[in-house]
Amino acid sequence: MAYETLIVETHGPVGLIRLNRPQALNALNSTVLAELKLAYGAFHVDEAIGAIVLTGSEKAFAAGADIKEMQPLDFADVYKSDFISGWDEIAKARKPVIAAVSGFALGGGCELAMMCDFIIAADTAKFGQPEITLGIIPGMGGSQRLTRAVGKAKAMDLVLTGRMMDAAEAERSGLVSRVVPADKLIEEALAAAAKIASLSRPSVLMAKEAVSRALETSLEEGLRFERRLFHSLFATEDQKEGMAAFIEKRKPVFKNR
Ligand code: CAA
Repeated sequence: MAYETLIVETHGPVGLIRLNRPQALNALNSTVLAELKLAYGAFHVDEAIGAIVLTGSEKAFAAGADIKEMQPLDFADVYKSDFISGWDEIAKARKPVIAAVSGFALGGGCELAMMCDFIIAADTAKFGQPEITLGIIPGMGGSQRLTRAVGKAKAMDLVLTGRMMDAAEAERSGLVSRVVPADKLIEEALAAAAKIASLSRPSVLMAKEAVSRALETSLEEGLRFERRLFHSLFATEDQKEGMAAFIEKRKPVFKNR
């Protein structure tokens, strides 16, 4: 399918989605959201796809929600339509999604990266929540996900001043999992996604669910949830195969069941 704002490819078992609005530094408008939902939906129903990489251009992952689209809106408009709540669907992707961030990831761009399961950053990446400089605040989860990722002090600093942080600071503060040279970004992200896609699908999906639950519940409930998922994986053929392969000193052949 041809998209107006995305370039979508498959690399073996990995789906690669590039945001593609170069004239607006990949600003996130309603077309991008609608197309991302379609692209995610297609990869989710495709059994051959085990993981997704979401990226932008060298200059910008995404420079935020589209300011030109938002500027004329008033309270009644945004309240009645529950403006930007549609992005919640992107955050609920079941298959693992890696954000590969080069250049600017600002406002909604930083928030979109944080909706992914982890972020691999190019050494050129710059993260920030500059909404305060526009007379608004983050609206796609920045005040919540950023605080969970980097803690109150750094989140307050970024959200209240609107300043950007570079890749090294983002890695130090726990927002990104690794920083790589800009020219290796896609290669590294595809390799990480291919590794995930090569593993047993039920265990990958449950691992994602378990870690995600840690951000939403008490330790006691989280531990109970984890243990139930752990138990349930003993009902899969892949658990038998994975452990037998270890004992027999060979590579496992997973059937995703
Ligand atoms: N929305 C719409 N258009 C944008 C945009 C955005 N968020 N960010 C950049 N653009 C457009 C610019 O208007 C410009 O278009 P024109 O050539 O037609 O003027 C084009 O992209 C290139 O941008 P610049 O000329 O500004 O590029 P630069 O290299 O000089 O600066 C930048 C880069 C520092 C990222 C700067 O573009 C910038 O500050 N962008 C806005 C960042 C921002 O405030 N993001 C938050 C948006 S609000 C939000 O996201 C709310 C939310 O939480 C959901």
